[in-house]
Amino acid sequence: MVIYPVILPVAEYEHHLPSREKAILLSRVARQALDLSAQKTGVTLGELCKGENDAPLPCNGHYWSVSHKPRYVAAVVTQDPVGIDIEEVTPRSESIFAYVASDEEWQLGGGKTWDVFFRYWTAKEAVLKAVGIGLGGLKKCRVVSTSPVSDRGDIVLSYERVTFLVEQLCYDNHVASVLKNSATVQWIIPETPPAGKAASPWYSRTPASTQSPSLTHGQSYTPSEH
Ligand SMILES: CC(C)(COP(=O)(O)OP(=O)(O)OC[C@H]1O[C@@H](n2cnc3c(N)ncnc32)[C@H](O)[C@@H]1OP(=O)(O)O)[C@@H](O)C(=O)NCCC(=O)NCCS
Repeated sequence: MVIYPVILPVAEYEHHLPSREKAILLSRVARQALDLSAQKTGVTLGELCKGENDAPLPCNGHYWSVSHKPRYVAAVVTQDPVGIDIEEVTPRSESIFAYVASDEEWQLGGGKTWDVFFRYWTAKEAVLKAVGIGLGGLKKCRVVSTSPVSDRGDIVLSYERVTFLVEQLCYDNHVASVLKNSATVQWIIPETPPAGKAASPWYSRTPASTQSPSLTHGQSYTPSEH
C-alpha cells in the first residue's frame, strides 16, 4: 500500500493575520492538503468528524490526520489508523528535552540536538495522534530505534507495548513525520505559491508530486508487540 502525505506551504501574506483568524485559516489549508491526499489515494472523503479528545474519526472507511504550523501544513488519508505532524526546527528552552524523551532515547539518536529533538517530537505526535490520545500519552511513547539523521529516514517507536514505524522528511527547516507501518510513503510537496497569492485555487490546480530518494522504500514492516 502506498500512502500520500501532502505538505503545503502557507502563503506569505497569511503569516500576518491575527492569531484566531490564522488558526482557522491554517485548519482550512490543512483540509486542502487532505483533499489532495484523498485525490492521490483515489478516495472521496465526506464530512470530517471528530470524536473523543478532538481525535479525527474515520470518514467513509478512511483514516485522516492533519497538522498545521505557521509556514506549512501537512495531511494524510489512509486505510489504517494514521497520524501526521510537522514542526519547524527552532531552538526552545533546553528543559523541553527531558519532557519529550529519556536520556536513553536521546543517546539512540546521537544526542540532544534540535534536529533530533524535532525528529522525536514529530514522531511521537504522529503515533499519539494515530492512537487518538494526543500529548497526554507522551510519557508512554518511546523511541526504540532511528535511522541516521538525514533528509529522509525512519524511526521506530513503542506505545503501550505496540511498535510503530514512522517515516520522516526534512524540508525547508521543518521535520514532518507520518505513521506508515507496512506502507510505502510518497510525499507530495507542491511548489511554493508566489508571495501573496491565495492558496486555495492554486493548490488544487497544480499539484506537483515530488518523490525524495527513500532510505527504506518498499520496506515491509508489521506492527508488533515490543
Ligand atoms: C493532538 C495534539 C497532539 C495536536 O498537536 P499540535 O502540534 O498542537 O497541533 P497540530 O497542528 O500538529 O495538529 C492539530 C490537529 O490534530 C488533530 N487532533 C486533535 N486532537 C487529536 C487527538 N486527540 N488525536 C488525534 N488527532 C488529534 C486535529 O485534527 C487537529 O487539527 P484540526 O483542529 O484542524 O482538525 C495536541 O493538541 C493534543 O495533545 N491534544 C489532545 C487533547 C488534549 O490532551 N488536550 C489537552 C488540553 S489542556
